[in-house]
Amino acid sequence: MNQSRSVVITGANGFVGKNVGKFLSKNGFHVIGLVRKGREKSIDFGRVISSETLSENNLVSKIKGSSALLHFIGQGRQTIDSDYENVNVSLTNNVIKLCKKAKIDKIIYISGLGVDRSTTLGYFISKYKAEQEIIHSGLDYTIFRASYIIGKDDPLSKNIRRQIKKGKVVIPGSGNYHFQPIFIVDVAKVMLKSIMENSFSNKILDLAGPQTVSYNTFVREFIGGKKTEIRKVDFESVYHDALHNKGSFGIDDLSIMIGDYVGNHRKLASLAQMKFTKYGKVLKSRSLS
Ligand SMILES: NC(=O)c1ccc[n+]([C@@H]2O[C@H](COP(=O)([O-])OP(=O)(O)OC[C@H]3O[C@@H](n4cnc5c(N)ncnc54)[C@H](OP(=O)(O)O)[C@@H]3O)[C@@H](O)[C@H]2O)c1
Repeated sequence: MNQSRSVVITGANGFVGKNVGKFLSKNGFHVIGLVRKGREKSIDFGRVISSETLSENNLVSKIKGSSALLHFIGQGRQTIDSDYENVNVSLTNNVIKLCKKAKIDKIIYISGLGVDRSTTLGYFISKYKAEQEIIHSGLDYTIFRASYIIGKDDPLSKNIRRQIKKGKVVIPGSGNYHFQPIFIVDVAKVMLKSIMENSFSNKILDLAGPQTVSYNTFVREFIGGKKTEIRKVDFESVYHDALHNKGSFGIDDLSIMIGDYVGNHRKLASLAQMKFTKYGKVLKSRSLS
């Protein structure tokens, strides 16, 4: 177990970064958040440092000796200016070099559930390459392959809520594909354990919740009693909109949805020795819907 209580978080102003950062701060960690220039005010815990490339020399002395770096920068939609190779792979390489220079021995990374060597999806290929860079870096690592992480303002809930406001929620295709939502507070607890406990060393774990649910059921439960139309839309039509950068889904969102990826929750639960929150409870707590 590493005794230093100082940790660094990249992507500290993202959904996962903010929530995990706050949780670790409340639990006695000195958190250093790395964000892009101009985003410093978006986090209200620990200490914030701005960085564009994560390779600036002046960063090293500011984070030296921290016990772990939690690498939460990532992107699930690419553009001409910001593609997967640059964000998911190159920045991970910069982070690995940064850890070595700053003598940070442990890196924690969130990959995607469904990522493996045989994948043909561009997003997953970039996550796989990032995983490989980390595994071969010589650093102690914990890689989490995450299903949808849910909590206040998570990307999936924001998307559904936006559609509810417009009065219609689209279900691409049949909606019978599944996922395993995991509550952000549980994720934060798992992150704390992976910093502190040697049993998480050099492991790849599915970050998947205790229940498997179809998209159909999740959307219906999310909407609850609200008056909103649920419309199943022909997959071809949703995909067409996604390709033309319209509608509520990106093409890689759609691929992941119909990928029907289900993970090994039991392995995570047994290692973490935790009871995980059921998604229904998260929805009912109104932190979501
Ligand atoms: N949320 C989920 O359900 C889920 C599921 C599977 C995997 N993951 C992975 O978990 C990680 C965190 O996800 P999240 O939900 O917190 O995502 P998020 O809310 O979109 O946050 C992404 C973070 O990455 C930063 N970022 C993106 N492109 C960057 C770039 N070119 N340079 C520097 N920073 C950049 C963003 O900074 P700006 O604010 O400056 O843009 C933001 O801080 C990601 O790697 C994601 O792929 C998440």
